[in-house]
Amino acid sequence: MANLWYKNAIVYCVDVKSFMDANGDGTGDFVGLADRLDHLERLGVTCIWLNPFYPSPRRDNGYDISDYYGIDPALGTLGDFVEFIEAAKDRGMRVIVDLVVNHTSDQHPWFQASRADPNSPYRDWYVWRDEKPDNITDGIVFPGVQKATWTYDRTAKAWYMHRFYKFQPDLNTANPAVRQEILKIMGFWLALGVSGFRVDAVPFLIEPRGVLTDKPVVDPHAMLTEIHDFLSWRKAEAILLAEANISYEEAPDYFAAGDRMTMVFDFVGNQQLFLSLARKTAAPLRRSLAARPDPQGMGQWAVFLRNHDELNLGNLTEQEREQCFAAFGPDPDMQIYDRGLRRRLASMFDGDETRLKMAFSLLLALPGTPVIWYGDEIGMGEDLALPEREAVRTPMQWSPGHNGGFSEAPKDELVRPAIDSGKFGYHHINAAMQTQHRNSFFHAIADMVSARRSSPEIGWGGVDIVDVGDDELLVLSSHWRGNRVITAHNFAGTPKSFHLADEGIEELMPMLTDSPTGPIKGDGEISLSAFGYCWLRCNGERR
Ligand code: GLC
Repeated sequence: MANLWYKNAIVYCVDVKSFMDANGDGTGDFVGLADRLDHLERLGVTCIWLNPFYPSPRRDNGYDISDYYGIDPALGTLGDFVEFIEAAKDRGMRVIVDLVVNHTSDQHPWFQASRADPNSPYRDWYVWRDEKPDNITDGIVFPGVQKATWTYDRTAKAWYMHRFYKFQPDLNTANPAVRQEILKIMGFWLALGVSGFRVDAVPFLIEPRGVLTDKPVVDPHAMLTEIHDFLSWRKAEAILLAEANISYEEAPDYFAAGDRMTMVFDFVGNQQLFLSLARKTAAPLRRSLAARPDPQGMGQWAVFLRNHDELNLGNLTEQEREQCFAAFGPDPDMQIYDRGLRRRLASMFDGDETRLKMAFSLLLALPGTPVIWYGDEIGMGEDLALPEREAVRTPMQWSPGHNGGFSEAPKDELVRPAIDSGKFGYHHINAAMQTQHRNSFFHAIADMVSARRSSPEIGWGGVDIVDVGDDELLVLSSHWRGNRVITAHNFAGTPKSFHLADEGIEELMPMLTDSPTGPIKGDGEISLSAFGYCWLRCNGERR
């Protein structure tokens, strides 16, 4: 089915308020984003994922929504949104948006009505208990910051449940009226032209509220089927991309071969990837790739290096996590929630372009659909002076000019400070300087994106992990419809070489390499520099 567009997509995540401020009020907006689509086009992006841009008190970066049917006024109007969608479409880019319906802001009128009156039709839209529940500290998501998962509300004279911060009361998704409203929200944004949703916090969303409210438990995954069915009736090409930090055993229930979630972020693989990078060996990643279930049918894994949250290493053993911390974030201030790092990719590698390019090449070579966090394509760093995960959400660095070209507003009026000092400051790291120079980091990444877009084998096909007898190398053979691409990545800091034992290969054509002399030496030997990579197109039958 050639129209499964997401299988060969390059997804780029943008926080609109930090991307480009067109009206000079200090906050990024939709007009600014539409103006900067040329940057995304140059990079080769085909799908933009927008972090929440809805009206919100913004106590959790907009993941605390107070109106699902509008735009945060500082970011623009619904008109600006539609203009942006059209501008993206003109450039062949689709747009997906965050669907955050596990919880609302406590400022949402539904919650205000729910807490104010036990007889309100909205009372049952949230999860209330008259008595203090047992173990109100169970299941905390943000340890060290969040105190409980149930909080007493004086107005309601009852306890409400909140998986996340206390200003984010959980919606009661066991309530059919709530489920109906979720579909209505989806229908609204689909009608405005989006091509699907990144679904926030899916394991919590489907957590059986019945257990909590003493009502019978329904199949928790049924809700995902319901959402998917609705989506495909409204817009056949639309997709659901699940944020679900789940084990590989649980994944088939989320995918149902693409009949529930079209894509699921591979959090397990992401952690093994960073463990491999920290240990300078491919072994952990190779093992997890081998164990990763095939999503089947229309399903697809989404792969990523960094995103707008912390690098969550919570599934590693303590010793493994300590190795990652030692390699990528030794300072306690870089660590967060006892499990992660609030750092960007480039600073984790101290700006080492060799290792950064290898990491990006790997991202694009892995089976699945790659998702890039804005700014990582130019090697931006973080601002640890900002609280929690805000550190990685600083304004896009466009130029060496005022506020890094992000906004004309006075510096102290910016939505978040732009990074203006140190080696990751906008004087050194910015899009304008890099797009001008053909040998810049940005162009290297854009070349990789282009290689990936011309290798549908990787997004569409199957993959074999090729054993070349060296744990420090990851060699993948991606095949689809009789075509094949081989990618090789060297996790070690020493040069390496290997042979492909496959006799079916008649010719290897280098597509991408970090080596100026090319990766193929005499007698078929393939050589990689320290932390090197290469992509080879194969002619000949796969045996
Ligand atoms: C998801 C988001 C995160 C947010 C949380 C609560 O994990 O990625 O940024 O804080 O949900 O909505």
